[in-house]
Amino acid sequence: MTEIKECSTMTEYLPLAGKVALVTGAARGIGRSYALRLAERGADVAVLDFDLHSYKDFPLEADAMRGDTVAEEIHGLGRRALGVQVDVTDAEALNTAVRQIVNEWGRLDIAICNAGGGVGTLEETRASIVEEKVLDVVLGRNLTGTILTCQAVSVPMKSQGSGKIVTVGSQAGNRIETNGGYAHYGSAKAAIAKYTQYLARDLGPFGITANCIAPGYISTGRLAPMLSSMGGAKLLEGVPLGRFGTPDDCAGVVEFLASRLSDYVTGAIIPVDGGLTYS
Ligand code: NAI
Repeated sequence: MTEIKECSTMTEYLPLAGKVALVTGAARGIGRSYALRLAERGADVAVLDFDLHSYKDFPLEADAMRGDTVAEEIHGLGRRALGVQVDVTDAEALNTAVRQIVNEWGRLDIAICNAGGGVGTLEETRASIVEEKVLDVVLGRNLTGTILTCQAVSVPMKSQGSGKIVTVGSQAGNRIETNGGYAHYGSAKAAIAKYTQYLARDLGPFGITANCIAPGYISTGRLAPMLSSMGGAKLLEGVPLGRFGTPDDCAGVVEFLASRLSDYVTGAIIPVDGGLTYS
């Protein structure tokens, strides 16, 4: 139920009050923005990541932090928070984390399957030569990790008869633009989008929605330097809105997919890319 709480300095908009959310890969970057946005809208949030201090890898990410971990930042917003160190390729660890959340907070309403990312250079990950070892890592952390997360969260969601699942694809799963490089990543993200549609079909009868967002060029601490090295202004020529995206741009769409506003939306793949995919 939407709740509006009066504060001394402002009126908070809390459409997710009373909801429990889980976000994977939330220790930094876009995942951190999802976790903070859901908490700002009233949800209690579990932050899952295989390194809860991964923000330390990038100065831009470290500078943005307002606590030692994202869970601590969420506490600072006045919500309940859990930080759980989990690798999304480990089904047993994921199941344990989900049981812990349900034991402590009684339910699970929202799951954002965000953990992922690529490995390797554009040149060494061309479709015809990408090494099996690199392929395994990228398929594992993106595709397998997403599927295992969805399977773990669907257990309590099915019992409740409700839930909102959001997976994270990429514009790299929609279009080929790197001369054949990052083929492993693009293939994993395309598979996540298709898996999400199967999941929507499977879970619809339980009152659970499943949708996929497909971000374009989003400037995070990790990606900002790469975007410059990939051509900066040249890349932007393909983006109708003429700028790189921000984690906040993605968080707005996740907020929609996690709230009642999207109750009749399932199996959708939503680009968040300034118009790149369809230009
Ligand atoms: P990032 O690399 O900055 O953050 C990823 C987080 O996931 C890190 O905290 C990392 O520790 C965690 N993680 C990685 N593998 C994990 C595993 N196996 N188990 C648990 N945690 C794991 O990435 P960024 O840029 O914030 O991207 C987030 C998601 O959005 C990823 O799925 C990425 O593929 C996707 N994406 C990002 C785009 C961008 O432009 N930044 C564009 C399109 C999609």
